[in-house]
Amino acid sequence: MSENLTAVKKRLEELREQINQHNYRYYVLDDPLISDGEYDRLFRELLDLEEKFPRLITPDSPSVRVGGQTLAGFVQVVHRFPMLSLENAFSDGEIRDFEGRLKRYLQRDDDNDYVAEPKLDGLAIEIVYENGFLTQGSTRGDGKIGEDVTSNIRTINTIPLRLRGSNVPDYLEVRGEVFLTIEGFRKLNERRADAGEVLFANPRNAAAGSLRQLDSKITAQRPLQFFPYGISDPSLLDCGSQLEALSILGRFGFKINPLVHLCKDINEVVDYFHVLQKQRHDLDYEIDGMVVKVNSFPLQKRLGSKARSPRWALACKFLASQATTRLLDVEFNVGRTGAITPVAILEPVSLEGVTVSRATLHNEDEIKRKGLRLGDRVLVQRAGDVIPEVIQPIIDLRNGSEEEIRMPSVCPECGHKLLRKPGEAILRCPNIDCPAQRLRSLIHFTSKAGMDIEGLGKKALKQLFDAKLVNDIPDIYQLKQSDLLPLEGWADKSAENAILAISKSRKTTLSRFLSALGIRFIGEVTAALLEKQFKTLDRLMQAGEDDFLDVEGIGGQGAASLRQYFADPAVRTMLGQLLEIGLHFTPSDSSGRQEPLAGKIFLFTGRLSGFSRNEAKDRVKELGGQVVSSLSKKVTHLVAGEKPGNKLKKARDMALVILDEEEFKRLIEDNYSA
Ligand code: IVH
Repeated sequence: MSENLTAVKKRLEELREQINQHNYRYYVLDDPLISDGEYDRLFRELLDLEEKFPRLITPDSPSVRVGGQTLAGFVQVVHRFPMLSLENAFSDGEIRDFEGRLKRYLQRDDDNDYVAEPKLDGLAIEIVYENGFLTQGSTRGDGKIGEDVTSNIRTINTIPLRLRGSNVPDYLEVRGEVFLTIEGFRKLNERRADAGEVLFANPRNAAAGSLRQLDSKITAQRPLQFFPYGISDPSLLDCGSQLEALSILGRFGFKINPLVHLCKDINEVVDYFHVLQKQRHDLDYEIDGMVVKVNSFPLQKRLGSKARSPRWALACKFLASQATTRLLDVEFNVGRTGAITPVAILEPVSLEGVTVSRATLHNEDEIKRKGLRLGDRVLVQRAGDVIPEVIQPIIDLRNGSEEEIRMPSVCPECGHKLLRKPGEAILRCPNIDCPAQRLRSLIHFTSKAGMDIEGLGKKALKQLFDAKLVNDIPDIYQLKQSDLLPLEGWADKSAENAILAISKSRKTTLSRFLSALGIRFIGEVTAALLEKQFKTLDRLMQAGEDDFLDVEGIGGQGAASLRQYFADPAVRTMLGQLLEIGLHFTPSDSSGRQEPLAGKIFLFTGRLSGFSRNEAKDRVKELGGQVVSSLSKKVTHLVAGEKPGNKLKKARDMALVILDEEEFKRLIEDNYSA
């Protein structure tokens, strides 16, 4: 290397070191050492030198923070460990229930240390560091597969491009939330208004839109921020707890949320929840709750995860909007397992712009605990996306005409005497022939969580059930197009599609079939364990309770429920019939089929010239994606043909991936050749 080049290299190293250090002091520590002008001069010098000597640019150079790379589309990234979501709690009582569950699961009564963290309302991302260098950043996506947004993530000032310190691991996956401050959001919208651009609805949408830019220069102009909340795999860091992990991440150069708080027991967690709730509106970023986590990593490991959420963490959501209205009546719904749920019929009232006229009352004990009476004025609440709930009566407004709420003694659907087992809060209809239970089971069977038979939703099944065309599962497989056509709302095409979907569902996996059966205590995860262990339905049917107990992950309740289910002669007859009709299983994991668009939900708008609409939809489906016909939060990709209409405008506001026909074609072709 010439002397000149050596000198340049040395100067570049100095500049990077200095700029990274100043950057860290300014953005992370909030304690700058030099003026903005001095910082800008150093930065300018770096950019000039790198422009002259592009071969000397390194991946940790602060120059990458200005962005540059433009992508044609996002590449998919499979998360080594799925990015799970969290179970929600909406009250102090539900936070305490969480601890109850933990203690029962761990079979110990000791107090746990918890870490309580603000629940940021942004987007989850994962950042990979190899030998201390940031090598990849991806969005959460559907939890399993996200999108590669590395160059955008590199523009975020509070994310180190290279981990600080000497003791960095060879490999690390850091997870956390990207967000915009309220001020950052306000300024961004101001700039957009000036430029005549569509405004973002809220900071979260703005952050999402900014992170999923194909041009990282645009992302660089958005004041995105980041707080880490954990690592994908605790064994990657030499430490024993969440709090230690966060403090190590702090030493590596991340900015750690100063409101992260260690709680010695669940009372402290509940107290801190109230502290945060009060503080919520004083923060300069939006939070929608608090996340509480078991601090100890070994305990987290023992607790493990359910299908979608870890057992060791809980999202405690802040109260959403509330309103008062009148409790007009109480209806009693019969669920799939015979559980009777009281439902409040309310005088319609608007909550967060949605009209609410029904709300769950959970169970008899809850009605008693709240002391509700018919005719009461009540406080109702919508929290998150859940069903509205009645919080309490407003006793001062009673006029004496209010009446006691009586639980039924017989099933409102079949008249069978209801039972309530000692120690259970739930009243049940024990009649397995109860039509309401049958219908609910059928609805579960064909639903997305079950066999996922398109065209046979709630409404269709109720219709078929009422017409006595479908009374049990095998009846579904006997349906013919001519059965459907005389019924209201069916046409040739819809009937043909439904019959085709039913027929296709004969080929399935054992685990899907088992979850579709809706056996008590047997959800998706257990069903997968059963498939893995027993492989065939035959062997499952031969198994005894001990064989079920031998499966790691299946406990006493699950094993007893399985034994009882498979011992029932009616069940055995039904299963026999299904096999005769041609139900057969393929293994869940050996199909080897590539589904690169799995988890993606497409919406088409406008006219395509190179494909018919149906062809385009089929291509998406063949690659594992889903197609829907209306715009909703679920949609991930909008394909805009000619004359796209206002879906396109809305999709822009929602920060979806928007593809024109050419881009769509490329996406399909690339994935086919992959
Ligand atoms: S922990 C397995 N901690 O909430 C643990 N999540 O509902 C999963 N979130 O997708 C995440 N702040 O986007 C965790 N301090 C925090 C969080 C947090 C916000 C978001 C995150 C996640 C969602 C789960």
